[in-house]
Amino acid sequence: MSALTAVHTIADLRSLVARWRKAGERVALVPTMGALHEGHISLTQIAREKGAKTLVSIFVNPTQFAPHEDFGKYPRTFEADCARLRTAQVDAVFAPLPEDIYPEGFCTTISLAGPATAGLEDKFRPTHFAGVATIVAKLLLQATPDLAIFGQKDFQQLAVIRQMALDLDLHIEIIGAPTIRAEDGLALSSRNAYLSQEERAIAPLLHANMQAAAKAIVAGGAIETTLDQARTAITQAGFAIDYLELRDARSLAKIEKLSDRPLRLLAAARLGKTRLIDNIAVNG
Ligand code: PAF
Repeated sequence: MSALTAVHTIADLRSLVARWRKAGERVALVPTMGALHEGHISLTQIAREKGAKTLVSIFVNPTQFAPHEDFGKYPRTFEADCARLRTAQVDAVFAPLPEDIYPEGFCTTISLAGPATAGLEDKFRPTHFAGVATIVAKLLLQATPDLAIFGQKDFQQLAVIRQMALDLDLHIEIIGAPTIRAEDGLALSSRNAYLSQEERAIAPLLHANMQAAAKAIVAGGAIETTLDQARTAITQAGFAIDYLELRDARSLAKIEKLSDRPLRLLAAARLGKTRLIDNIAVNG
């Protein structure tokens, strides 16, 4: 197992990155909220493959949770996370204190449009992306990495971050990494830990029905009819659907008919108290 440097202050983070830079290293940041699983580890592997020093941030960001959401019970497993990062040969972990990230008087938020207002996650979590964009901008400015890696599982989040990095001239390569799934197709997520045994058995049906719908659409099925059938099947399996939508993969705009542009099928659905999100490519 390799050594994992842990830093907790912004000053220590900046010194560490400055040492790496002086030694001619490139730096990759993998922002996370901890409760790490194989999906997160796959992001660190991409950083290593790029030959960069790998820095993982762990911060459960309060501003991206609405008051009724799961901020309080979000899993916090710092020691286990560090053990996983050591095994994955990650170079450093940055785990700041909330009061250093949001000191008294903090009052700046990034205001978003474009992919952040596509009517998907934003419709159900209206304050979420402002919180995400603000913390990600802060982490990118604190760590000044050459590249930052995010999972495609949060597909709209990835689009929001790409747009923000472009608009603010951050000059950091944003990499979107494929979703890692359990053998039964369930997308890995820290929130899967909330599922009961019974719910866990039902959970893969979200992805299975999405795959069936994508296949039917590619085979020429009418888009809205196919989506309605999938919505019915997902509801009958026990989910309460927030959305199941076919969108342009780049702009996240609504689409009326198939074209040769890449499309994405995106869904959010609640199973008991757990909210699951997923998305798949439809035509390349
Ligand atoms: O995807 C996440 O885990 C979070 O939204 C992120 C990007 C770490 C920001 O808090």
